[in-house]
Amino acid sequence: MRSLLVTGAAGFIGSHFVLRHVERFPDDHIVVLDKLTYAADIHFLDAVKDKIVFQEGDIADQALVMKLVTDHKIDTVINFAAESHVDNSIKDSSPFLHTNVVGVAALIEVCKKNPEIKFLHISTDEVFGDLTDDEPPKKVEDPLIPSSPYAASKAAGELFLMAAMRTYKIKAAVTRCTNNYGPHQASEKFIPTIIRTALADQHVPIYAEGKNKRDWLYVTDHTDGIEKVLETPWAFWDEKIGSGHFFNISADDERQNIDVAKTILDILGKPHTLLSFVTDRPGHDWRYALDSSSVRALGWKPQVTFEEGLKRTVEWYKQRLAK
Ligand SMILES: NC(=O)c1ccc[n+]([C@@H]2O[C@H](COP(=O)([O-])OP(=O)(O)OC[C@H]3O[C@@H](n4cnc5c(N)ncnc54)[C@H](O)[C@@H]3O)[C@@H](O)[C@H]2O)c1
Repeated sequence: MRSLLVTGAAGFIGSHFVLRHVERFPDDHIVVLDKLTYAADIHFLDAVKDKIVFQEGDIADQALVMKLVTDHKIDTVINFAAESHVDNSIKDSSPFLHTNVVGVAALIEVCKKNPEIKFLHISTDEVFGDLTDDEPPKKVEDPLIPSSPYAASKAAGELFLMAAMRTYKIKAAVTRCTNNYGPHQASEKFIPTIIRTALADQHVPIYAEGKNKRDWLYVTDHTDGIEKVLETPWAFWDEKIGSGHFFNISADDERQNIDVAKTILDILGKPHTLLSFVTDRPGHDWRYALDSSSVRALGWKPQVTFEEGLKRTVEWYKQRLAK
């Protein structure tokens, strides 16, 4: 039996992780710490609310994290807590600096004082910056060249963790995933925005000409990859920090934004004339692509096709918006 502290699990990806983890590992003890920002919905965890401990709070509150770790004899920390929306980071980077850097540093401090803890940090492909159409997918050891304040804050969190692995010998690993989609995602994000605006027969906003490429992964395929990484022995401090500590997760299924939008309109039976091209995001990354061999070597591969995942996603938002 493990005792897990899962942060940010009232949000999109963390909630799916907890729902599936409780089902698969009913003997594990799970404590969720979440600040309940605009991106969270505590009701995402309703199905397991009697099987977990929920604590509202901030990962940057080191005393609170330490108390949870001590009271619940935590042996594993999984950090999903983040400010996660690029456009918000362009408007104001301070919440990103707080949660994605100061918050991660606070979790590291607690792990430093509890060296038996395994710390799995959830990061993003955006730390690598973008790729041209001709570049090969990013490998785990490629340099971090973030483009947005969001990506910079995630890269900074990773760098603090990398330094802590070496300096304090904490047991840690980092997963970096491509764009996720599925139920529970905050309504401001790309796919929920398309569904929401199309359902209301409003203009569906698409940055520039919609030709930017993303590699979409259904959310539970991401959380299954995280489980694979959790159950695998990680490289530890006495080894060179490198591929044994970092895992890139992706479906290897790149699509242009415009094609994703059209597929959603088709599922909803809405005309493509709803598409409305708007001024591009400043510094907009052109393409993301990851070499996911590190996690595939653990026996992981995506299970949900893009078409099936989109249908499930559209259905969930239809029901949520109808309430
Ligand atoms: N969504 C994606 O496509 C994607 C892709 C790759 C990686 N990631 C990473 O996965 C992680 C989870 O992303 P998500 O999309 O579920 O995010 P989200 O924005 O949906 O959820 C984040 C959660 O963290 C909580 N939170 C925010 N600040 C906090 C703080 N200071 N203390 C405690 N809780 C706090 C929020 O209340 C929310 O429940 C993030 O680290 C993100 O960088 C996301």
